[in-house]
Amino acid sequence: MSTKVATPLAHRKRRHSAIDRSAIDLTGSDDSKHSGHKTATNGAVAASGNISDVAPRAENGTSSHATRKLEDENDDSGEGESEYEDIVDAAELEPWRPLIEGEGVDSQTASRLRSTLLHVGPEKFLHDALTAAAIPPYILGTAFGLDPALFDQLGENRYMHVLGQIVVRSYYKRRKLPQYNTIDDVAALLRNSKNIMVITGAGISTSLGIPDFRSKTTGFYSKLLERGINEPEEVFDIHEFDYDPRTFYQLAADLLPDHKHYSPTHGFIRLLQDKGKLQTNYTQNIDNLEELAGIDKHRLIQCHGSFAGATCRKCGHKVKGTEIFPDVRAKRVSRCQRCKADIAAQAAAPKAKKAKKRTPTPYGGRSDSDDDDDIPEPGVMKPDITFFGEQLPEDFFDRFTERDVKTIDLVLVIGTSLKVAPVSEMPDFIPHHVPHIFISREPIEHVNFDVQLLGNCDDVVFELCRRAGWELKHRMVPKGLEVSVEAVEDFGSRWRVKRRPREDGKVDGRP
Ligand code: OAD
Repeated sequence: MSTKVATPLAHRKRRHSAIDRSAIDLTGSDDSKHSGHKTATNGAVAASGNISDVAPRAENGTSSHATRKLEDENDDSGEGESEYEDIVDAAELEPWRPLIEGEGVDSQTASRLRSTLLHVGPEKFLHDALTAAAIPPYILGTAFGLDPALFDQLGENRYMHVLGQIVVRSYYKRRKLPQYNTIDDVAALLRNSKNIMVITGAGISTSLGIPDFRSKTTGFYSKLLERGINEPEEVFDIHEFDYDPRTFYQLAADLLPDHKHYSPTHGFIRLLQDKGKLQTNYTQNIDNLEELAGIDKHRLIQCHGSFAGATCRKCGHKVKGTEIFPDVRAKRVSRCQRCKADIAAQAAAPKAKKAKKRTPTPYGGRSDSDDDDDIPEPGVMKPDITFFGEQLPEDFFDRFTERDVKTIDLVLVIGTSLKVAPVSEMPDFIPHHVPHIFISREPIEHVNFDVQLLGNCDDVVFELCRRAGWELKHRMVPKGLEVSVEAVEDFGSRWRVKRRPREDGKVDGRP
């Protein structure tokens, strides 16, 4: 019997389908330490496609002794795979730290262990640590942020599986490049790069009044929590939607853009395009404001779909998103006009054979029913947003693996908590010599970025443009805007970027 270990929202990544890294060739990497990454991506890809499932295999794709031991012991535990991932995600996002001395390894030992791992690889590391050095597994796990109590909660076999996964993930994690540290380094990268990948999240639209998801008091999910919805992400769960779409329709209006304005950060991405430097903008946003900003369709991947279109869950009829906006704004479930017309036509021709009814749920999901006594109901329209439980668009995988990872020379990640896979996993699949820059309000620990520029992204991109010698023109960028850039203590490559107050004490452009 498996013991479900709860992982609270903030400490959990959500997964759409995973990146198929068998298609990725990381030969672009000039870091020899990462040659194992390349090997792991060439064939030894486990079904889930997660890096943690890849690496316990030896370079030729066969299991080593240490690996086999871990696998054999866990043969009966396949059903818990996503639970293991949740636990590993939680330890990565919120690593366990000892409260009293001696509870786990101290921080020096932890970093020594992690550096040994980088040198010898996961298999030898696990073998040496567990067998030769005889470190108890629950102590070893603390070096990677695993709570030692998990050992008892999960039992030895399942704990070993989690330990194997986290060690492997740690090994394949991107490592910071030492040569990029300051905001001026980033400005120089902007000037010199030719093929930039920009990964964006909800933070680039908050200045327009569209909430992000996970900010503590203002995020969409925290508002849902306040309203007593304990699992707010379920609003975007396809099974929940099919069962009862009313919850989604009662809440989605908050996420609808007015589609009249885009933010300075959208404008910055457009500027990169105008300068011939934008290779691809992978956006997790569903507001479709990239289109308004003029980002070319062929440079844009809407990883989680968008409100631009909507599809009937019953008959597959497609309409423009704007057609369902009145229903979304009125908080009522939008019904398919084509289904309605079909039903009306059938009613007008009573002798005709009734259409096959497909209503597995009270609200018209996809399964079939031949029950002729059912009263036909029009299908429910679903905006073309990728819900949890649905595949990301094909072009996401194709473009990322076939083209972008091979050719980009800079990655900018802007306004996202990077908590939703597979987007959150993209940085670990890009050759490690490609500089990675993070721009958002809060720092990120679970991905090793080269430089983190923390603050409102509109201000950060304004300052980057200024330092790059470019002008970011946008109605929300006030004339004479000045920002300060201050080092974050203890970090040589993290910077706080803030608007300077005007002489009257007010901050430009803010109410
Ligand atoms: P999150 O809400 O998880 O993260 C947005 C991040 O942007 C937060 O860390 C904020 O601190 C930061 N932020 C907010 N406003 C900002 C600003 N003006 N400047 C800079 N940073 C700012 O949103 P995403 O990472 O985009 O899925 O969430 C990913 C996915 O989770 C979404 O696509 C959505 C959700 O479930 C679907 O819609 C299907």
